[in-house]
Amino acid sequence: MRRIGVLTSGGDAPGMNAAIRAVVRYSIYNNIEVMGIYRGYKGLIENEMKAMDLSSVADIIHRGGTILGTARCEEFMQESGFQKALDTLRYREIEGLVVIGGDGSFKGARKLSEAGVLTAGIPGTIDNDLPYTQYTLGFNTALNTILDAIGKIRDTSSSHERTNVVEVMGRRCGDLALYAGLAGGAEVVVIPEAPISNEEICDIIMRGNARGKKHSIIILAEGAGNAYSLRDQIVCSTGLSVRCTVLGYIQRGGTPSAFDRIIGSKMGAKAVHTLMNGITNVVIGTRDGQIFSMDIGEALQIEKEFDQETYELAKILSI
Ligand code: ADP
Ligand code: F6P
Repeated sequence: MRRIGVLTSGGDAPGMNAAIRAVVRYSIYNNIEVMGIYRGYKGLIENEMKAMDLSSVADIIHRGGTILGTARCEEFMQESGFQKALDTLRYREIEGLVVIGGDGSFKGARKLSEAGVLTAGIPGTIDNDLPYTQYTLGFNTALNTILDAIGKIRDTSSSHERTNVVEVMGRRCGDLALYAGLAGGAEVVVIPEAPISNEEICDIIMRGNARGKKHSIIILAEGAGNAYSLRDQIVCSTGLSVRCTVLGYIQRGGTPSAFDRIIGSKMGAKAVHTLMNGITNVVIGTRDGQIFSMDIGEALQIEKEFDQETYELAKILSI
């Protein structure tokens, strides 16, 4: 293996830079050249990349976002765009590719692998919606960002004796909401995996009120509803003073946590190591502190098991 490429694709996530740095430095250490491809598959189609050296990844481990930029690229999903991407890889003599992104990006990597390019995927998304791995890169940082916000919202909620609905990201996955709910001491967690009616939500809040609770936090996963309409319905049913906050993109930015820097570094090295051994069509994951690789197709078939135990615990502890 003489030359590989690295790209980030889909939504950015804190820790992507740590992974890019590891890919570049671990490759150079092993006498492999690395091309940094800009804006995901778009840069591959448009032949936009630069040769990375040791200093090109200096001073980035602590930065959120991705220094390579990212994109969602429709053209890559068309045959003509895909062929252009393959042409670029051949023209640039890139034999292997590290794709840092979510499941969509991995599907693209699998296609490239079928066309003969050695590929390794690193799970980069705040959503934690890739069930083959216990954690995706960025999830831990986003969770801490949410907790920081909940703490602030709690201060004002308690001062004003209010109920606050906090909407968090995650697409169809409720992990950010569930774990933020547990760690942030929320009264109610609303996630797609465990539907709950508005009546039940109001009942929980009113039961707390009857016991003397003066303020409440409801964490709502974006995949389970809309903060503004939930707020309106709670006001309508209970007459309480309710506010809502949609945390939005602050969840995706910010300096990566120690955890995300560490798994980003380990996953980056593992991806290069895998390619160096001629293994292709893999994704890198982590479970119980170990870093592993597995076949992309197999990984994408694994279905998420709902963490009922954590959900029940969050409910018990919020009484
Ligand atoms: P994520 O990787 O975070 O899931 P997307 O689903 O937006 O984000 O996918 C990122 C990019 O991966 C898409 O814009 C597209 O270029 C590529 N991609 C997604 N799905 C496929 C697919 N089925 N085949 C080939 N490429 C895909
Ligand atoms: O996948 C990460 C994520 O931030 C989701 O939580 C959210 O639904 C989505 O991306 C937003 O995507 P966009 O950047 O296209 O607005």
